Amino acid sequence: MTPPFIVPPALLSSADPDPLAATGRPLRWGVVATGRIAGTVTTDLALLPDAVLHAVSSREARRARAFADRFGFTAWYADDEAASGYEKLVEDPDVDVVYIATPHAQHHAVAKAALRSGKHVLCEKAFTINTREATELAELARANNLFLMEAVWSRFLPSMNRAWEIAASGEIGTVQWVSADLGFPAPPDPAARIWAPKDGGGALLDLTVYPLLWAWGTLGLPQSVTAVGTLTGDGVDAQNALVLGYSSGAQAQLTSSLLAHSPRTAVVCGSEGWLRADGSINNPSELSVRIGWGDVRTESFDVVGRGYVHELREVTRCIQQGLTESPTMPLEDSLDTMRLFDGIRAQLGVHYPGDRR
Ligand SMILES: NC(=O)c1ccc[n+]([C@@H]2O[C@H](COP(=O)([O-])OP(=O)(O)OC[C@H]3O[C@@H](n4cnc5c(N)ncnc54)[C@H](OP(=O)(O)O)[C@@H]3O)[C@@H](O)[C@H]2O)c1
Repeated sequence: MTPPFIVPPALLSSADPDPLAATGRPLRWGVVATGRIAGTVTTDLALLPDAVLHAVSSREARRARAFADRFGFTAWYADDEAASGYEKLVEDPDVDVVYIATPHAQHHAVAKAALRSGKHVLCEKAFTINTREATELAELARANNLFLMEAVWSRFLPSMNRAWEIAASGEIGTVQWVSADLGFPAPPDPAARIWAPKDGGGALLDLTVYPLLWAWGTLGLPQSVTAVGTLTGDGVDAQNALVLGYSSGAQAQLTSSLLAHSPRTAVVCGSEGWLRADGSINNPSELSVRIGWGDVRTESFDVVGRGYVHELREVTRCIQQGLTESPTMPLEDSLDTMRLFDGIRAQLGVHYPGDRR
């Protein structure tokens, strides 16, 4: 079995007693894009004493300037006839690390430009739209000795690491099945990135990374995946259901939906008891454990900032220490994710224009 996500405490940023303490020399950040997650993550970045908000880029000057003013960035860049905003940002000698918050289909081009300019990179999930793009980025980062990580923030949350720990401890016995769901009805706007094939739209790339964490973190990578999905008229998956099979006989059922509200719950069921995550599967506020027919034990978790502080500290600590990959979220895990997603998309019949490049 592939080992689950157990990281020794000495290598786990979220195990630090003070999640807002500086860990070394300040890093100068460049943020690419000014959308929803760029604003949320930058709010948490501003909490770190060793983060300098240096530059932001947007396709439009108006948005770049407004974002810079809102968070106090020193510089802003926007598209013009000569170059795009992100091309200018990655060439800024005062940027150490670039955070990419564009839609998935633009991650590859922006990350490639940043790595070619000698910048470390934190790139939003989904890492890329396919394995070919992900492999190219991993090779480029490794060849240039630069830090690169997919921003799977949930991997760094104390609540999630506690869940992996409980599952691995044997307390609930041998894990036999896992169920996890994530869904919300996205407004039906065909131009929105979440629905647009050109942006890598659909539930799989946007949501499935989170339900997958629960199967992967407790059972490892599956030996088989069976997928069904509901496609839109434009050919992206509005929702998907996956059954993961393991040679041990264990199984997982994962559901991701852009059509329906879901309780966002994960359940890990073992021969001795079960573990349940409540609140949200990507940022649980509570973990409940029941052994046999005994009482339910509940563990509660506070969220620091908006929940992104732990991931940002990990990037900071790794770069300060000269690491090119995070021990918690290594590149191989992003490559494995993209390989799984490519296989699932083939079953669903979802193709992106970028697959043909
Ligand atoms: N980690 C998380 O919790 C989390 C949560 C939500 C989303 N995400 C990920 O973050 C990424 C962005 O999601 P979002 O919800 O922030 O989307 P969003 O609100 O639509 O923002 C994306 C931003 O990217 C820029 N952009 C849009 N289309 C572009 C294009 N064709 N080329 C280049 N730039 C473009 C725009 O900024 P400018 O107009 O300023 O250029 C836009 O505001 C996605 O990959 C998503 O999966 C992660």
